[in-house]
Amino acid sequence: MKKVFISGCSSGIGKSLAYTYSKKGYIVGLGSRNMVALNLVKKECEEIGGCVFIYRLDVRDHKNCSLVASRFQLDAGGIDFVIANAGIGGHDNLFSGKSFEINNILKTNLLGMTNVLMPFIPFMKKERKGTLVCISSVAGFIPTPHHGGYSSSKVAIRMIFDSWRPTLKRFNIKTVTICPGFIDTPMVAGLGKSFPMKSSNQASQKFVEIIEKGTPTFIYPWPYRLLIWIYYITPKSLYNFLILKIFNKPISKKINNIEP
Ligand SMILES: NC(=O)c1ccc[n+]([C@@H]2O[C@H](COP(=O)([O-])OP(=O)(O)OC[C@H]3O[C@@H](n4cnc5c(N)ncnc54)[C@H](OP(=O)(O)O)[C@@H]3O)[C@@H](O)[C@H]2O)c1
Repeated sequence: MKKVFISGCSSGIGKSLAYTYSKKGYIVGLGSRNMVALNLVKKECEEIGGCVFIYRLDVRDHKNCSLVASRFQLDAGGIDFVIANAGIGGHDNLFSGKSFEINNILKTNLLGMTNVLMPFIPFMKKERKGTLVCISSVAGFIPTPHHGGYSSSKVAIRMIFDSWRPTLKRFNIKTVTICPGFIDTPMVAGLGKSFPMKSSNQASQKFVEIIEKGTPTFIYPWPYRLLIWIYYITPKSLYNFLILKIFNKPISKKINNIEP
């Protein structure tokens, strides 16, 4: 049986990925902070035949991530796929005079990605197989006002994979960067809700297919590829004028900022 570990599975895309992999008969490891929600996800996955292990995980805490990675490899008997999905939205709190909000986004989305993935790499290197996945975003191509922390975290994780890809390929380790546009999950709030959105179930089924293929970078759904192209050819002074007309306020809600 194939083994997959996914971070951030108490809701949204991670939860849907957990169902999709359970249906496919994988051994699934799930990590999140909210153990009540995670227990419910485990129960629902088991009802459809899944073999699921759950772990309390805060991706900002590298020691916690290393312990959970070792524990899952023991519980499951190895690893094939690791998906760094956990992430938060939120805005930079640009005029607050404090760096807390933006730094928390960077810690969760950027350091959280390296904390989750890196402990698995030595085992994959030894086995000469495996796939690492990060959930980046279209926001990593197109910046929106008030969300510099979020956009930059998503560019950075894509760039980390672009850097690692040729080296890891020599050990038969694939790196897949998924860049979703708006997907209907609890993360999307405010103006984001008025965008046409795919469901997290539709998205997760497509992502699993792409991850199995090992596609290096995947933008979903396809109209966002066109939007990114338009962004690149638009003069930046015009873009800045237009984007402030659309996004004059932060898109996503304030998030729960409990430090590990
Ligand atoms: N929805 C979209 O439109 C969209 C678009 C592009 C990219 N994405 C990316 O997709 C990923 C999943 O987002 P989503 O839309 O499914 O949002 P979501 O429903 O809010 O889920 C986020 C998940 O991340 C977990 N998480 C947050 N902080 C964590 C931490 N410190 N440690 C461990 N887990 C943590 C949460 O679990 P706990 O709170 O239980 O820890 C939750 O399960 C994120 O990386 C997001 O940036 C989403």
